[in-house]
This record gives sequence, C-alpha cells and structure tokens, in this order.
Amino acid sequence: MRRAFIIGWPVEHSRSPLIHRYWLKRLHIEGDYERVPVSPDALEDFLASFADQGFVGGNVTIPHKEAAFRFCGATTQVAAQLEAVNTLWIDGGNLHGDNTDAAGFLAAIDEEAPGWGKDLGKVVVLGAGGAARSIIYALIMRGAREVLVINRTIARGQDLRRRLGAAIAAKSFADLPGALADADLLVNTTSLGMRGEAPLEIDLSPLPARAIVADIVYVPLETDLLRQARARGLRTLSGLGMLLHQAVPGFEHWFGRKPEVTAELRALIAADIEKS
Ligand SMILES: NC(=O)c1ccc[n+]([C@@H]2O[C@H](COP(=O)([O-])OP(=O)(O)OC[C@H]3O[C@@H](n4cnc5c(N)ncnc54)[C@H](OP(=O)(O)O)[C@@H]3O)[C@@H](O)[C@H]2O)c1
Repeated sequence: MRRAFIIGWPVEHSRSPLIHRYWLKRLHIEGDYERVPVSPDALEDFLASFADQGFVGGNVTIPHKEAAFRFCGATTQVAAQLEAVNTLWIDGGNLHGDNTDAAGFLAAIDEEAPGWGKDLGKVVVLGAGGAARSIIYALIMRGAREVLVINRTIARGQDLRRRLGAAIAAKSFADLPGALADADLLVNTTSLGMRGEAPLEIDLSPLPARAIVADIVYVPLETDLLRQARARGLRTLSGLGMLLHQAVPGFEHWFGRKPEVTAELRALIAADIEKS
C-alpha cells in the first residue's frame, strides 16, 4: 500500500488528507495520506527516514517549506526559483521537491475566471509572505507587466523584487488607493480576513469595473473582501480552487494517476470548511 504524508508544525488543521483520500477512493487506489506532526528540530531526521517508514513522499506545510527545500537533492525550476517546496517524492534514491502553489493558483484562476490573463497590465498583491512569492512568480510567468506588492513590512516586498524581478514595486498600505486605480487584478495573500485573524479593511471603490478580486484565504470561503467585490459587481475567486489544484501534482507522483478537481470534491471541502 502506498502512503503519503503532510508534515507541518502544527498540522492538525490541514484539509489535505480529505482531498487525497477522496481521490484514492474515487480512483480505487489502495493507499493512504496521513498527517504527521514534525517539529523544526525533527525535520532533517524525518526527511532522511520517511522512505524507511513506508512513505513514498508527501506535502510540506508551514513552517517547513524553505527548510525542506535545502534538503532536496533535486527540485523543479519553480521550486529552485522560490527556494521553497510543498511537494516531495523519492526518485532514484534522491529526494525531489516541487512547489505547486503557483501552478495551483493559475489552474484555479484559469478555470474560474476564463480570459483573465489576456493583456495583463497592473496587478496588486496584498502580502509578501510565502504564498505571495508563489503567486507573484505565477503572475510574472503569465506576463503581468507591473506587480505592486503592498505589505505591512515593506522590506519583504523589496526582497521579492530582488528575487523575482523589476516588474515588482514594493509599497505600503498607505499607497493602496492609488495602486488600485487601473489594476486588472487584486490578490489578497495576507492572512488578514481569515477566521480568527484581524479583518482586512480596504476600500475597493478605486478598482476599475474590469478588475478581478482574488482572495487565497479559504476559511471562510467568502471573505469580507470577496463580499465587497461581489457587491460592486466584480469577478471574484476564493482560495478553494488553489487549495484543490495545488494537490494534483503530488497525488500523481505518489499514486501514479492524475486526479480531477471535481464539483463533488469542491462541495466536500467547502462543507468541511463551513462546519469548522
Ligand atoms: N488557498 C491556498 O491554497 C493557500 C495556499 C497558501 C496559503 N494560503 C493562505 O494565505 C495566507 C498567507 O499564507 P503565507 O504562507 O504566505 O503566510 P506568511 O508567509 O506567514 O505571510 C503572511 C502575510 O500576511 C501578512 N500579515 C499577517 N498579519 C498581518 C497583520 N496583522 N497586518 C498586516 N499584514 C499581516 C504578513 O505581513 P508581514 O510581512 O508584515 O508580517 C505577510 O505578508 C494564509 O491565510 C494561508 O492560509 C492559502
């Protein structure tokens, strides 16, 4: 039986087991996907020994994405660029790593907002943490001409500019009203607006009518930001699609079949989020 893991510290909150077990059942594959709490001190030992424990690979979540990257013998180009991994597997005795958050975001927005990337001019990204790094990489790959990164800690936005290129400008929240004018896309990658966190309080009125508003927070599914955007008649995207699509490549590596993000899977995870 093939077994995969998700490691994090903590990891109890992860919905990945629900996603992968749904696919295992639907595809009649004998396998399992398990949460494994791994503290930062225990990461190196776990990565060196998971194959001996019967695992074929797994996912990596906070706070291990960057540390796990450093232990990989080989990585995909996107993981090398982002210096962080969320998906691991063994190939030829070597630990391989990928970062599927960027591809997950793109698959979600392609599906839910068709045509969004045609002639992409200005994009505003709120936040400059790990998720922002993946999303900005994805947006630049898709040809965004200008990416304004608005973050509480401006130095983190400036670091993203050094890593990912001159199309990025680092700004503070005070610059937001001007930044929103003429933006084609606004993406919230901060944890603001997440259940249990402080609210994200911004005024969307400067956004043009063509703008799309995405929030990668997925608890709750409809954040105040998305509600405000919908009330203005703007196209919106929740974090659920990214969560589901980022899981696809890992499943394919570990279990040998490419799974589908179905309406049934969406409903299953949405119901789990709503009851939490
Ligand atoms: N949908 C998905 O598949 C998906 C995938 C990954 C992450 N996420 C979600 O994305 C969010 C961010 O994740 P991450 O991994 O990027 O976390 P992270 O690396 O810890 O970054 C957190 C970001 O939020 C900002 N922030 C936090 N508290 C703030 C506050 N009180 N005021 C202003 N800014 C604040 C931080 O600003 P500073 O730099 O100033 O601290 C930073 O930009 C989480 O809610 C996570 O659940 C969703």
